[in-house]
Amino acid sequence: MKRKIASLAVLGAVLALGSQAALAAPDWSKVPKKEIHVFHPGVTPIEWATKKAEHSGSAGLKKGETCAGCHDEKGQLSLDFKRLASKDLEPKGAPKTMTFPVNVQAAYDASNLYVRLTFKAPAGAADPSDKDNDVKATMLIANDKVPQGEQVGCWATCHNDARTMPGADDKKTKYVKDGAYDLMQWRSAKGAKAADGTVTDKRAMEGGKAGVTAEGSKAGDTYTVTFTRKLAGGVALAEGKAVPFGIAIHADHASGRFHHISFGYKLGIGADGDVKATKL
Ligand code: HEC
Repeated sequence: MKRKIASLAVLGAVLALGSQAALAAPDWSKVPKKEIHVFHPGVTPIEWATKKAEHSGSAGLKKGETCAGCHDEKGQLSLDFKRLASKDLEPKGAPKTMTFPVNVQAAYDASNLYVRLTFKAPAGAADPSDKDNDVKATMLIANDKVPQGEQVGCWATCHNDARTMPGADDKKTKYVKDGAYDLMQWRSAKGAKAADGTVTDKRAMEGGKAGVTAEGSKAGDTYTVTFTRKLAGGVALAEGKAVPFGIAIHADHASGRFHHISFGYKLGIGADGDVKATKL
């Protein structure tokens, strides 16, 4: 009963944000947290990252190294944020806060995967044009057909001709040349439904096969977002498998490419990974 009372405050916050869903199944106090730093990537789509003249890391990528392998040093990002905020890589203007940590937890049972993200969303967006949502939290999971999916995380979906990129068509969404991603998104707008989508040759915000639900709450300045999805359906997950994923946070009404994103990491489901899902 003690636990129930303690969770009333959280429940209040959940209800205030308009979600009717019950608290998710896992006891998150028993699930380890992995801190992943997200950052504003400027205009560095996959075409940029794989072009030798722009990015010396492109040579390592060709040899099979991962983005995180070079840029994530024991959880700290090795990136030149001044350069990322400069006119060269960010012509429109960078957010005040270039990087912040997100705590990632995962758990699974016989039928579902549960993922919980906890973070403080910084103010000071460069492009606060999403009028409806203060914050959006997104997770992409790649299947094994995505080119370099295990190395690049979400970058395979990020192209120089996608909407909100400088000079790009406003209708063209993120896409991938081969393979597919499942997309899960929580939106803070009152009554907003979770997006259960995909990224294939285009992005679809619905029609996913993973039965995604999401709950979110804000307590003080901390957001807690919990996703539930089926293991089967969409990018098929199963015990013994590790899958590449990336996360993105749109903070302070940010839209389009003005999110803070992670490099690619591995989620291990009863398998090794950067984030290991706890078996329930
Ligand atoms: C072999 C190591 C290596 C790999 C793999 C690598 N990078 Fe880099 N990256 C670098 C180095 C070195 C620099 C700085 C010099 C330059 O830009 O060439 C850099 C620069 C960057 C920058 C610009 C900010 C800065 O610190 O200068 C971004 C953004 C970036 N990398 C993203 C990526 C992404 C995304 C991937 C994967 C798709 C990736 N990198 C893979 C080594 C790497």
